[in-house]
Amino acid sequence: MFPITRSRRLRATPAIRRLVRENALSSDDLIYPVFVCEGANVREPIGSMPGINRFSVDTVSGECNEIEKLGIPAVLLFGIPSHKDATGSEAYNANGVVQRAIRAIKKNSKNLLIITDVCMCEYTDHGHCGVIKGDSVDNDATLELLCKEALSHAEAGADIIAPSDMMDGRVSAIRKKLDENGFELTPIMSYAVKYASAYYGPFREAAESTPAFGDRKTYQMDPANRREAIKETLQDIAEGADMVMVKPALAYLDIIRDVRDITDLPLAAYNVSGEYSMIMAAAEKGWIDGDKVIMESLLSMKRAGADMIITYFAKTAARLLNN
Ligand code: PBG
Ligand code: ZN
Repeated sequence: MFPITRSRRLRATPAIRRLVRENALSSDDLIYPVFVCEGANVREPIGSMPGINRFSVDTVSGECNEIEKLGIPAVLLFGIPSHKDATGSEAYNANGVVQRAIRAIKKNSKNLLIITDVCMCEYTDHGHCGVIKGDSVDNDATLELLCKEALSHAEAGADIIAPSDMMDGRVSAIRKKLDENGFELTPIMSYAVKYASAYYGPFREAAESTPAFGDRKTYQMDPANRREAIKETLQDIAEGADMVMVKPALAYLDIIRDVRDITDLPLAAYNVSGEYSMIMAAAEKGWIDGDKVIMESLLSMKRAGADMIITYFAKTAARLLNN
């Protein structure tokens, strides 16, 4: 008790603060999302995400080289095909945009891990994460397509498969499909806890994946629910997930902690597009110190219990950490 106890003793200098620091961010923890589109020589800025671009297959490998050189261990690839249809057929085309990008990146960046987002919304003409039957997304019919997509990513050379669709049973379906085809060593990083969030707005501009009608509330989680996050996590682990994810991150730090407390599997936090754009906008206006707010936000995700962070700030953070 005061005056015997004085917390300020352990805060007095930078050295003692370093010594008693509980959590740290490292470039080892970072995953950088990358958008790949059709065309040649494309490096097209995304309006709502300053500093983030869409790349064509020929320019993406240069970008990934830079990412690897910064010490970032992994990228998360999203494909933006020019042809979209009702069943998202470009998602499982062996010569689709993601499949070609994987092969191009693997040639140049031997040690960079390639994680692929497996979902239908970037590939369907209606923008939903699965196939439509009547006025809703048909869960079981979608599973077959997700399996084809996951397998075609693995065949192209993807290191980790990350399903983000929120269909029930997709982890076990994909696990079975991969195993039957000789990819029993390809890990699945499941978007286990994914909320129906307005923070995905800028991403949908980037990936051209805004649903043409309705919303994603019949498959993504209700932001009001906390216990359900545990249920979703345990379900995906039982189905064979190797790693689990909570998404979004900043407005859901309590959920990251809840999930951390119930599993020893590696846990990822997805610092989503809207979280990125808010910080970038305030920093551009000079209202906050962007670099400091970025590092404090990423650290908060680690403190909440995340092992790794998927973030559009990965390059900036790696540069700051390398200095
Ligand atoms: C695809 C997918 C989305 C995001 C990642 N994968 C969009 C969505 O579910 O609508 C969002 C990522 C972000 O906002 O940065 N299902
Ligand atoms: Zn989707």
